[in-house]
This record gives sequence, structure tokens and C-alpha cells, in this order.
Amino acid sequence: MPRLVLGPLLRFVEGTRATVWVEADSACTVEVLGCRVSTFPVAGHHYAIVVVDGLPADDVTPYEVSLDGERVWPFEGWPASVIRTRASAVPLRVAFGSCRAAAPLDDSSHGADALHSLAERMRRQPVDEWPDLLMLLGDQVYADDNISPLTLARIRYRRSQSTGAGWEVANFGEYTELYEESWSIPAIRWLLSTLPTAMIFDDHDVRDDWNTSDAWLREIRSTSWWQDRIEAALMSYWIYQHLGNLPPAEIESSPLLARLRDAADGEPVLREFARHADRNIEGAAPVRWSYHRDFGAVRLLVVDSRCGRVVDAARRAMVGPEEWAWVEQHATGAFDHLLIATSLPFLLPEGIHHLEAWNEATCDRRWGARFARTAEWLRQRADLEHWAAFGRSFDQMTRLVGEVAGGKGRHGGPGGTPATITFLSGDVHFSYLAEARFPQRDVTSRIYQAVCSPLRNPLAMGMRSGQRFGATRTATRIGRALGRSARIPPPELQWELVAGPAFGNQLGELELDGRAGLMRLSGALPEGRFQESFSARLS
Ligand SMILES: [Fe+2]
Repeated sequence: MPRLVLGPLLRFVEGTRATVWVEADSACTVEVLGCRVSTFPVAGHHYAIVVVDGLPADDVTPYEVSLDGERVWPFEGWPASVIRTRASAVPLRVAFGSCRAAAPLDDSSHGADALHSLAERMRRQPVDEWPDLLMLLGDQVYADDNISPLTLARIRYRRSQSTGAGWEVANFGEYTELYEESWSIPAIRWLLSTLPTAMIFDDHDVRDDWNTSDAWLREIRSTSWWQDRIEAALMSYWIYQHLGNLPPAEIESSPLLARLRDAADGEPVLREFARHADRNIEGAAPVRWSYHRDFGAVRLLVVDSRCGRVVDAARRAMVGPEEWAWVEQHATGAFDHLLIATSLPFLLPEGIHHLEAWNEATCDRRWGARFARTAEWLRQRADLEHWAAFGRSFDQMTRLVGEVAGGKGRHGGPGGTPATITFLSGDVHFSYLAEARFPQRDVTSRIYQAVCSPLRNPLAMGMRSGQRFGATRTATRIGRALGRSARIPPPELQWELVAGPAFGNQLGELELDGRAGLMRLSGALPEGRFQESFSARLS
């Protein structure tokens, strides 16, 4: 009999339709609430995404999963998984965060797991107080560091560590183990079966500093193991994360999924796709990982800030030109709120912002080749790779936000401007809320940067003081002086932190109610509890 390996993951709920993702250990038919689909095989693994139709509107429906007619989910003694449909998306609750290392719940080295606390809270809460969506903002798995003792033991058993990828994850098979380890903890498995998720990768899903610069890319592409690794990373990302980001209609019409379903084994097809997607970095943009979802009058626009980059110094951009046109087009509309999810914060504490802008100019030989080499070393060493370090893209995004917030030109929606434009980000291993304004533009939207990082991978105590310093007035003054010395014009936007920085494992939540908004940040405590870190009104 086929066995359930991973999932179910409830990914998308839209009207009376939903998608449920599973991995099984052999080819079979997967059934959820009377809707059936066959698995598709990739490298001996078997996956399915079931489009569930005809759910009762504005209701909570428990569901089971059957493989070849045998019920395999929920496990004995577990609470039922449910799909919740809503007649109105008001109020809308979005939970978010990034960076979650895989470790057993009682492993104290990574602290308490914010997703475990969320699962425990949901089990006590009435369903109508649950979040509508969990936005996972990167480092859903760590392929290069924070690798668990279990994965390290498997690597030691399986292959030599003195060649190739060494102690890092090397291939598709090892990626499947990472996902299984990350999402199999019972409380997390139930959470992901019941709360819809949207996801986007960040560097550690692939490797630290992924696509930070042309120098980085040249060096990594000269190794013997990178090609296998990047293909495995993008193949597994497509299956485990990206497929569930798509709405049901796109799943039903996906040519790639159709080819995988027709193949005896889809590995060559998916590998070719991954190779193609890795060419995004040369500005070719054959694959768009960015996507959007609408919840009533709230638009969530998820912008890939890793794989769609252009690293060639002359054209360096966080988002290549074709994808940027798509971002501009989808930032427009009659929204009450526009959420722009990008794994890397758009607005950093100002001192750090200027340091990154200065570093980009220095890498680009503002002071000659010798300083450029040192600056490149610093860029990779200190992760100076956020929007601030892609000046052209920072300016493009600033202009776009200014136009949407001002309701002017082609970006102004017919219904006026959004009440808020909020960036949702992770990556930096501290959490904050910043508010921005345009001193020289007439805008009506409030503009925020909300950061929640990490869910479970706290920054070492010794490194927190540096990040705290980056948010001080002294650091801002030093940063501005650095920017002036490199002749970088001051940004058109001005911003400051209005809450945080907070350290430790956290869960971020937004509650959007009509034109009003609230951000709450909760610190994870052992045994699945929370302690409020801050809450702040957005409008
Ligand atoms: Fe991270």
C-alpha cells in the first residue's frame, strides 16, 4: 500500500476551491474530499497537488487524504485538518516570518519554534481568530549551514565530505530529506495541513549569498559541485514550495506539470527546467518565481529578490527588466492595502542602508580596483546584499511606491490609493517595523517595512550589538557621511524604525480591517507559548 511521506500541505484557498500538496512513497491516486489526481514521479519520489473543488462557502470543512482509496491522513489521535472558506476577507490576518532551522522541538540550541507556538495557539483559538495565510519569507530549509545532526549523519554515511559539496546538501535526494525533516514535526505538520501558506526562497534555501555579485557567481560556477546543487535546489523548490504558490487555474494549465505527469520519471524534464531557470541571472528571465494573491481588497505581491537578479555590474539589478515590468503592472489596482513580500528588506535601519549603498559603489570601482576587491570581500563577508546594495532597483522601487502612494500616472488605481503599502521581509535575523515618507511628494498611503526574522534560528548574542548599533542615530550619521563620500544622492524616501529591533525567534502578524491595519510581533517561548514583543497601528 502506498504510504504518505510528507504533507498534506494546504496551500491555496480561493472562493470554494483549494489546493492540497502531498508526497507519497509510490505511484498512486490521491483523493481529498472526493477530488482525485494521480501522483507524478521525480527521481523516484511521488508528488501530487490536488485541486479541491466545490467546498461549502463561508464554512470550515474537515478533510482526509486517501492514497489508492485507503485513508492515510489524519494520523490516529491527531486533530482534524480543515479547509476554511470565507465569504469576506475582512478582517484579513497574515502571519509571516523567515528563517527556520530544522531541529526537534526539544533541541534548545535553536530556541523555541515560532511555528510550534502558532500551532498550539491555533489549537486553543476559535477558528475565526486564526490567520488566513502564513507567508514564509525564505530559508524554509538550510542547505549549507544549520544542517541538523540527522542530515550530517546521513551525509557521513553516504559519501565523502572531502570533495564536492562537502558537508552541504549536494543533490535532489538530499533536498527531499531536508524538506521531510523540516515539515514532519507533528505540530508543524498539522499547522501546514490547515493554514494556507505562500512561500518564497532566500539564500539558504540554495546557499549563503546566493547571487550576491558577478564575482560570487563566477567563483561558485568554477567548482565541480555547483551545477548539481543549483539544479537540485531549483527542482526541489519548484516541487515543494513554488507549485503550491500557484492558483488552481494555473496548476490545471501548467505545461510543466502536464509534462511531469506524462513522464515515466520527470527528473530530466524538471532538471532541464531548473537549468533554464538558473539563466535568469544573466538577465534572460525565462522563469518568473514572483506571483500575487488577492484577498478581497488586499493584494499580496511576492517579489523574487534572489533568482531573478542581474549581477553583471553594468546592468546590476535586484529584479531583471521583464520581471520588473510585471511587478509594476501588478502593484496597480484599487486596493485597500498593498503588501509587497520580498525576502530581503527593502528598508533597512538607515545606517546599514548607507553602508550597503557605499559598498556597492566601492565594488563598482568608485575608488579603483584595489578598493573594489576589499569591498567585494566585505560584501560577501557581511551580507551587504539587500535592496540598498542594488541602487538602481532601490530607486525603481522607490519611484513605484511613490506613484502608487500618490495615486498618480499609470500606477494610480481607479479606486484611489491604498491605505497602506507594507513591505514584508525576513533574512536579517532581527525584527522591526519602519515607517517611511516622501518629504517632497504628495502621497496619501502610509508606507511601512515590516520585518520578522527568524522563526527559529536566533542571532548569536555577540552579533546583536552590531545590529542594534546599525539602528542608532550615530550609525545613521556615519552612514550618511559614507554615502556622501561616494557621491550617492540621498534617497527620496525617509524612514525610521517605529518598533524594534527585537531579537530571538518571532512570529509577525498583520491584521487588516477595512482601511485600518495593525502589526503584532510575538516572541516564541518553550512549550508552544508566545510573549508579545510589540504591536503597532499601521494607519
Ligand atoms: Fe536566514
